[in-house]
Amino acid sequence: MEQTPTLPTARATPKKVFVKTYGCQMNVYDSQRMTDALAADGYVATEAIEDADLVLLNTCHIREKAAEKVYSELGRIRDMKAERESNGGELLIGVTGCVAQAEGSEIIRRAPSVDLVVGPQTYHRLPDVLTRVHRGEKVVETEYAIEDKFEHLPKLSRAAVAKRGVTAFLTVQEGCDKFCTFCVVPYTRGSEVSRPVAQIVAEAERLADAGVREVTLLGQNVNAWHGEGPDGSEWGLGRLLFRLAEIPGLARLRYTTSHPRDMDDDLIAAHRDLGALMPYLHLPVQSGSDRILKAMNRRHTSADYLRLLERIRAARSDIAMSGDFIVGFPGETEADFEDTLKMVREVSYASAFSFKYSPRPGTPGAEMDGHVAEPVKDERLQRLQALLGEQQQAFTNSMIGRTMSTLIEKPGRQPGQKVGRSPWLQPVIVDEKVAEIGDIIEVRITNAGFNSLFADPV
Ligand code: 5AD
Ligand code: SF4
Repeated sequence: MEQTPTLPTARATPKKVFVKTYGCQMNVYDSQRMTDALAADGYVATEAIEDADLVLLNTCHIREKAAEKVYSELGRIRDMKAERESNGGELLIGVTGCVAQAEGSEIIRRAPSVDLVVGPQTYHRLPDVLTRVHRGEKVVETEYAIEDKFEHLPKLSRAAVAKRGVTAFLTVQEGCDKFCTFCVVPYTRGSEVSRPVAQIVAEAERLADAGVREVTLLGQNVNAWHGEGPDGSEWGLGRLLFRLAEIPGLARLRYTTSHPRDMDDDLIAAHRDLGALMPYLHLPVQSGSDRILKAMNRRHTSADYLRLLERIRAARSDIAMSGDFIVGFPGETEADFEDTLKMVREVSYASAFSFKYSPRPGTPGAEMDGHVAEPVKDERLQRLQALLGEQQQAFTNSMIGRTMSTLIEKPGRQPGQKVGRSPWLQPVIVDEKVAEIGDIIEVRITNAGFNSLFADPV
């Protein structure tokens, strides 16, 4: 990589960037792409924050705790920066992601040691931002770009992908137009944008070429993805999945996160007809109470959701469900909460995430009457998590004695082991000698932990 000798910061050794990722899988993907963008600028990634010349916190704003964690982390890094500068060195600090988008220059006001603030739609401009920072500017870059950041990011290099392993994320859609009343996403990630078919296919081909066997398509509202197929017809996610399954080497596909309103017939048909599409679906419902679903602006009832699941299960009988739940949304009574428990019992989830409602500034929910007291939220969350935990354990135990395909992913924590991935996203622990990383093998489950499975090859 060529260095620019005119820059005062040019050094003999490559500059190092440390990226810390908070929040969802899309942030994991974005962090990788930011690292790629910076690689073109001479930065190499480091896992050790002490070695870094640049620290980026790729942040999440979905719940209050997530944002507060960022400020406390910034306090710690500020001390590192002060120490570095007292020794004549330099440490740049950047905040990216959804807190950057939501708070903008407020971050630099609250944490003056921060040098740059870059939103999720503008990180392809990082190299340019750094040039400006080196000129002594504090840069806040949160204007939504008119240009498509994906077009401006460097293409994924084979070496970079190979380092990341045999499973990968691929963002196909960003933003959300649903405006659930609790959610900041439509404000931080903006309105829905779908990447074009050709761009997605090219990226998936590059992943497959570098040895990736399983791709998870990402979007805040991934099943709202739509695009123009090569024949000029309108494609939905179902059609896209069929196209991606044709790529040699790509054996497994997943997608997340979906909205019940956007599960169309084509997508359900893909679950029926496409073997590469894994039988595991994250389909958040948030609440089992129709009154609360309405207040959340989810635009469906609990009966709609259950009917939809029936159709999906009719298409693919071994599909396992995952979901998200919020307890203590404004106005939620004990009876509403019990409707949520009832829904959970009816569906039976293989795994699920559950959260206490956290009012987000600027969202309609924050302005609503009837906020639920913290101890009540705590108590409901405990009850819900106890039930979901039981279901998860029962699901894991039900695997014992079954045979299934497993994608061997990485070395295990214990010597002599490798860890694979089941069709239902469970870690599967096997003897290291049975297969190579990237192999997909049939195994028989012999034992189970809370989430992980132990298996022998068949
Ligand atoms: N409070 C609590 N949980 C929230 N989520 C989104 N916004 C909030 C909020 N304000 C949860 C939802 C969503 C998941 C990603 O985070 O369950 O599906
Ligand atoms: Fe947020 Fe609702 Fe959009 Fe999901 S569908 S990102 S919860 S607004």
